[in-house]
Amino acid sequence: MSRRLEINEVSPRDGLQMERNNVPTESKIAFIDALSACGFARIEVTSYTSPKAIPTLADAEAVMAGIERVAGVKYTALVPNLRGMERAVAGRPDEINLVMSASETHNRANLRMTRAQSLATLKEVMRAAEGADLPCNVSLSTAFGCPFDGEVDPQEVIALARALADAGAAGITVCDTTGMAYPTQVASLCEQLQQAVPGVPLTIHLHNTRGMGLANALAAFNAGIDRFDGASGGLGGCPYAPGASGNVSTEELVHMFDAIGCRTGVGLDALLAVVGSMSDLVGRPVSSQLAQAGPRLRRFAPPSWLAEKFPQ
Ligand code: COA
Ligand code: ZN
Repeated sequence: MSRRLEINEVSPRDGLQMERNNVPTESKIAFIDALSACGFARIEVTSYTSPKAIPTLADAEAVMAGIERVAGVKYTALVPNLRGMERAVAGRPDEINLVMSASETHNRANLRMTRAQSLATLKEVMRAAEGADLPCNVSLSTAFGCPFDGEVDPQEVIALARALADAGAAGITVCDTTGMAYPTQVASLCEQLQQAVPGVPLTIHLHNTRGMGLANALAAFNAGIDRFDGASGGLGGCPYAPGASGNVSTEELVHMFDAIGCRTGVGLDALLAVVGSMSDLVGRPVSSQLAQAGPRLRRFAPPSWLAEKFPQ
């Protein structure tokens, strides 16, 4: 039986948070509506963060209210604190994605809290979300390395995952925020986490900053992970992580998993059409190796002289 995978499209949040040009609210809504037709399990629509921290997503309320929700797609939003959770309750995403870092310095730089403060905050958010019937996934940033602190001890990631699972996390996403992960490290941490928090679905979130994105995705897949974040066109990056660049591109993830016989539910042609519209969306060229080359069975007309030289 081929494995069924869940693809979570994060470009409207992880992608647009990093773009320099202002993307109008109506264009974001049209973009998310086009993504909704592609067959994703989840779409991360926006973030309920401080508009001072992430000005490009200050229109979170309008975007969440403006999109057309398609049955079968879960619409999520990133939340860093209680204020964000209150905004989410009003906007009614299907799930929220809480965030903290596995490393101390990135947590302080990104969220202006210590890890201990973030953990306490997220526990409080999860308690409040239970009352509001809002499932909470938690993303652990910098789980494979931190641009400030360097190596991150896997035992610290595991301890945080356990604490979050005990506090009621509906899922945990392990994030390679600045593309520091490598395949054997990914396999090892994914295996350990599955043992540490059995029954809590794990997602892997990869950035392709050093060209190891797909290799890391395959390592996670081989270690048993079946939920993947991706950003169409390879958009993305954390503005508070020096050297951050785009996520692994969703179209390349889907193309790879199609090739090895997995079922992602995502229509590659529809997705590539959306990627083709993204340069206009963000006002700069957006592409990926796959978007340029086309799927592996793309066929070209043979040179015109062949028929003359080889008539049969
Ligand atoms: N949504 C909207 N506004 C918020 C908010 C939220 N979730 N949380 C705080 N604010 C507002 C406060 O109301 C306050 O507003 P004021 O200055 O008008 O009074 C201001 O932001 C500062 O509040 P404070 O609690 O002191 O927050 P902070 O300045 O210490 O910032 C975070 C903490 C977490 C809100 C901020 O660092 C943040 O949003 N980070 C997100 C980073 C991110 O998304 N990175 C990329 C994804 S990994
Ligand atoms: Zn990211």
